[in-house]
Amino acid sequence: MSLSLDTHIQRLPKDFLFGVATSSYQIEGSDFGNCGLSHWDEFAKQSGRVFNNDDGSIACDHYHLWESDLDLVRDAGFKAYRFSFSWPRLLPENAKIVNPDGIAFYDRLIDGMLERGIQPFATLYHWDLPVRYAQKGGWQMRDTANYFADYTDLVMRHFGDRLFSIAPINEPWCVSWLSHYWGHHAPGVQSISAAARSMHYIQLAHGLSIQVMRSHNHNYLGCVLNKEYAVPFDETEEAANSTHLFDGICNRWFDESIFNGTYPEEVLTLFEDHMPDNYINDMAIIKEPLDWVGTNYYTRSLIQPDKSEPNIGFKCVRGNLPKTDMGWEIAPEGLTHFIKSTTHYAPDLPHYITENGMAAADDIRQGNLQDLDRIDYFNSHLERIADLKAQGVHLAGYFAWSLLDNYEWAFGYAKRFGIVHVDFSTQKRTPKSSYLAWQNALANRP
Ligand code: FCB
Repeated sequence: MSLSLDTHIQRLPKDFLFGVATSSYQIEGSDFGNCGLSHWDEFAKQSGRVFNNDDGSIACDHYHLWESDLDLVRDAGFKAYRFSFSWPRLLPENAKIVNPDGIAFYDRLIDGMLERGIQPFATLYHWDLPVRYAQKGGWQMRDTANYFADYTDLVMRHFGDRLFSIAPINEPWCVSWLSHYWGHHAPGVQSISAAARSMHYIQLAHGLSIQVMRSHNHNYLGCVLNKEYAVPFDETEEAANSTHLFDGICNRWFDESIFNGTYPEEVLTLFEDHMPDNYINDMAIIKEPLDWVGTNYYTRSLIQPDKSEPNIGFKCVRGNLPKTDMGWEIAPEGLTHFIKSTTHYAPDLPHYITENGMAAADDIRQGNLQDLDRIDYFNSHLERIADLKAQGVHLAGYFAWSLLDNYEWAFGYAKRFGIVHVDFSTQKRTPKSSYLAWQNALANRP
């Protein structure tokens, strides 16, 4: 265990960008500033969906505390901040009437970044779907992709020229499969047909949004894909086939559609007649050229064949590696795997690690802000990055998840990913050892 993040950070060149990431619903507080309801506000009320029925109504009250939060970003030495716009904050009631408080909030936030020398890396959708679209079928509906394109236009008109970089969707696999087949996230649907439709429409939304942003002449557009490293549970042929299918659903569906304009055959076979009619006509939109590619990486999954599973015939289980407080195994070799596979799909694009980090049970009441396990986690992944960068791979930056302890979706406030501790009863922020390690290492860069 180390208190320092120097070793691998100092191996990376001066122009390698370091940033930190958050998202709107997880930190802002949806009660403030006339923000509209998102499907997470509804989902959190349903019994058994979210730990403690926690919701994001207050969250980290970043809506009011944004200035000191941006000071924390700057004082750590991060040069970029990955944040997201809240769709229901900007358009609370309908697709036309804009919330002036929402516009003013993001004006302040973006100007605040620029004043502090922090590059704004924006995401347009980090899961807070306006409830009015969710009620009409949300991402199972083509209309939602069209509404998303209109919302993109609104963001571009107000903020586009101040954003260094933009990605339409955070983690399309979580928006679609995780939320419509496994039902772990809002809207909590469990259906193969809903999964097929949402997996296509979220990709269409990505492509339409890229087209809108291009029409505004933005020149640094990308995607943020989460990757889960799939490892066969045992040496059987069934496990190998299941692993290939999981990798198709979770990883290659998104890479192949964005970079090749195709979907993996084995996943199309699974979806059979559930795919939207004429989906093939949308593939050229999904394949709109990008300027960079982003990977969110946390863990691996062991894929175990399971005959009782009616559609995919497997389940994901955890192995024997050390685990984070989420129960996620720490497997940095998966990051190496995905950096290489991304180089295969997008050989010419700069590649950012747009999220990476771990949950730990940091309990401030015991004075335990020594989150050495988190520093270790960062080091083990930064080592992979520095190794590949030294081999000439086009890696451009790394964003730690997350600046603050925040609303961890179905886990509510029970899981802490921050490099800064948040006391949710007082909103007091306290930097952890990992924050200080980032601060030292970034200050020591050449
Ligand atoms: C990612 C999400 C992010 C956060 C981390 C732990 O999948 O993008 O909002 O919840 O996981």
